Amino acid sequence: MHGSAAASSVECCGYGRRARVHGSVSLPDALEEYPVIAEAIRSLHVAERMPFSGWHVLAIQHVHSSLVVLLDAICFGGADVSQITVVGKSYSTRRQAMNLLRGRGARVIDPLRMRDPCQSFEVELGERVASVIEEFASVRESDSKGLLILDEGAVASHYLVGRPDLAGRVRAVEQTTRGARWLDSVRLGYPVVDVARSAAKAELEAPMVAGSMVAELSRVLAQFGTKLSQIGIVGYGTMGARLASLLAHDHTVYASDIDDSNAARARADGLEVHDFATLANEVQLVIGCTGNGIITEADLPRFDRELILVNGASSDIEFKLWGRINFHCPGEPLTPQQFQLTRALMLAGAVQVIESEGTGLAPLNGQIQGIITAAYLPIQARLAVTT
Ligand SMILES: NC(=O)c1ccc[n+]([C@@H]2O[C@H](COP(=O)([O-])OP(=O)(O)OC[C@H]3O[C@@H](n4cnc5c(N)ncnc54)[C@H](O)[C@@H]3O)[C@@H](O)[C@H]2O)c1
Repeated sequence: MHGSAAASSVECCGYGRRARVHGSVSLPDALEEYPVIAEAIRSLHVAERMPFSGWHVLAIQHVHSSLVVLLDAICFGGADVSQITVVGKSYSTRRQAMNLLRGRGARVIDPLRMRDPCQSFEVELGERVASVIEEFASVRESDSKGLLILDEGAVASHYLVGRPDLAGRVRAVEQTTRGARWLDSVRLGYPVVDVARSAAKAELEAPMVAGSMVAELSRVLAQFGTKLSQIGIVGYGTMGARLASLLAHDHTVYASDIDDSNAARARADGLEVHDFATLANEVQLVIGCTGNGIITEADLPRFDRELILVNGASSDIEFKLWGRINFHCPGEPLTPQQFQLTRALMLAGAVQVIESEGTGLAPLNGQIQGIITAAYLPIQARLAVTT
């Protein structure tokens, strides 16, 4: 995929520093600072192909500084910043990133707080996304090539399955495992690229997310003066297994999984495996890594002692205890240099989906995963030395 740049004239699209380059394609400094994204741009010939020209973009994403870089790249690939809408997840949105996006001319929809904390955060998020999709539906077909959706949790797709008339006008990239799993279960009339379950993401992102989670968990527990010896992991998939291996250094870790092969893997890794009810009686803290609901209010009377519940996935759907949940995110859990990996994979997914002909969920191209992985490994090594 990598090739020499050949365009004679490239204008960076109103996003970030404007640059006109003659003879060979060069990236704005703001993108060059992120070598993995820069490599993806070069390898995918983004400057030459301008894949996003004429497209509206809807990004349902954590508004962290690395999102600015991803959207810079999408604009470098031809998108008009005034046609980009970001719907943030209020619990994770960082004001500085939001202001940067708005400063560039993108629309950011994020009330920064929940209207009703007694229901899932996903309800309000879904409403905001639905209204952006309806707005797009009223754009004349001659005025847009379509709507490119950078989705997290298949939020847009949950709405779009009820609007089959829009299928010919939308394309999506899915970033989360739970979103991809849900997409597996529905008939899609439009293409979606599955970045969520790409090998590159599982192998490189999951350890970073797990490391960041364990560090934050230790900080919070120390603040409360809580010392733990037994921890239960519910969901022994990509995230759960990584968390368990980190926590097993100084805790006894138990696991639970409804999938027999993952439960067997936990046993092979040396963990005691129980059903959820038994596990909850053994441990002081449960980390949910399922992406599915684990307990509801109705289950609470079963617990006759203090049990700390930690959501190891995104959003608030694992412990359906709305009104009691404290979403707290004091900073960006991963630095933009770390998270450029996922942003680069999403960029690659976006290029792939724009050019794909079929419908339904398709895996992210393996070759570009290899290129992104190779570009990321030296950064990972450098970050490991400095932390
Ligand atoms: N993989 C990542 O890098 C990553 C990063 C951040 C957040 N997340 C989020 O973490 C969650 C888990 O992701 P993953 O990649 O580990 O998924 P995964 O599919 O690899 O693992 C999920 C596991 O949970 C099990 N499970 C599902 N429902 C269960 C239930 N009710 N009780 C017990 N086990 C159950 C499944 O059998 C599976 O083994 C998802 O919400 C995902 O979006 C993942």
